[in-house]
Amino acid sequence: MAHLHITGGRSLEGELVAAGAKNAALPIMAAALLAKGDVCLSRVPNITDVGVMSEILRSIGARVEFNGSGKMVINGDNITTVRAPYELVGMMNASFDIAGPLLARYQEAEVPLPGGCNLGSRPVNLHLDGFRSLGAEVSSDHGYIRVKAHSLRGNRIFFPKTSVGATKNCMMAATLAEGRTILENAAREPEVVDLASFLNRMGARISGMGSPNIEIEGVSELHGIDYEIIPDRILTGTYLIAGALTGGDVTIRKTNPDFIEALTAKLTMANQEVATGRDWVRVKGRRPAFALEVSSSPHPGFPTDLQPIMAAMLTLARGTSIIVETIFDRRYMYVDEMRRLGADMWVSDRTCVIRGVEKLSGAPVKAPDIRAGGALVVAALISEGESQVSGLEFIDRGYERIEEALVSLGADIRRIG
Ligand code: UD1
Repeated sequence: MAHLHITGGRSLEGELVAAGAKNAALPIMAAALLAKGDVCLSRVPNITDVGVMSEILRSIGARVEFNGSGKMVINGDNITTVRAPYELVGMMNASFDIAGPLLARYQEAEVPLPGGCNLGSRPVNLHLDGFRSLGAEVSSDHGYIRVKAHSLRGNRIFFPKTSVGATKNCMMAATLAEGRTILENAAREPEVVDLASFLNRMGARISGMGSPNIEIEGVSELHGIDYEIIPDRILTGTYLIAGALTGGDVTIRKTNPDFIEALTAKLTMANQEVATGRDWVRVKGRRPAFALEVSSSPHPGFPTDLQPIMAAMLTLARGTSIIVETIFDRRYMYVDEMRRLGADMWVSDRTCVIRGVEKLSGAPVKAPDIRAGGALVVAALISEGESQVSGLEFIDRGYERIEEALVSLGADIRRIG
């Protein structure tokens, strides 16, 4: 089975440049469908989720060219169908991002209803309620959601629950609606802000992004532009935590410290030495790390995507840590694997209790989802002896050549198979 072979015990030292953010790149690729003419993106991460989104766009007739090292050109002027294939959409929840742009520009979208994923149930009711508020008809048939509207009209949309996906989809749909749309209780994630900035550069009129109230004044058309994706805060956080846990000294460059304040605050509380500059963050690991209480919540709270990776660090902390996961119901699938490395963890419902141990010991483990994979790799880096982390199909969805990045910091890790 393909896996990462890791010999633990080396402290990570050095610098890395952050790749572009997966969760900004995917909706921005979908939003490129809104533009007349070519959209030229830079800093697009070379991860399998980007490959899946490229295939989805191609399957409906868009032109997508990717050079594999950051540059991508998308042209959505000659769409041949508004129906996206299940085989591709089912591979990734973010595929549903194409619904809003197709509805806005082509008056119709047919997208398979996302099923659950390894993190739990992934409903899209908030996306669909938002589309309805803009005047779309929503129906469902044979596993497909169909949204249709001759013209969209701006409206007030209140989200009873903060959702990154619903905020992005409704924001994209509203760019070409007639009149003003107000999104209330909108998501404030940096990737939502980046999508709004991208849409504005294409000619949209969006304000308030980054706050809970986003206003969108509809325009009649959007045009192609050049745009650089923001740095990935989850990747930045993963490598910083790896540096801290291994007692190393890691600097992430071309990143944005403001995006990860919730993490750097926790690292400081855990006795780690953190320094930041305009576009860099440095962590020097100190042992022992102190135990923490961490509760995931929407931005600017602690990101759920870093919860498993923070848990990896806390397995060796002095004392008992408590984690509360408030976003996804199956986000502790990695705990059994972490126990195989010697972690002392106990889960009840949304709470995970971690009693710090003296050491972890290498073992074969399997990643159950993307960030759980990141967490197991980070834990294996400090585990005595050898570990084999499988489940690369998940890790490669979010981490571009993770082994190369870690080798450049001095880790003993290689890809097998
Ligand atoms: C995005 C991120 C993901 C991150 C998550 C939370 C992408 C591609 N993925 O996922 O990495 O972990 O934000 O920060 O950007 N919900 C509903 N109804 C809906 C939509 C969501 O009940 O219509 C629920 C979800 O089940 C979940 C919560 O709301 O419990 C948050 O989901 P959401 O913010 O929409 O996450 P995603 O956009 O799917």
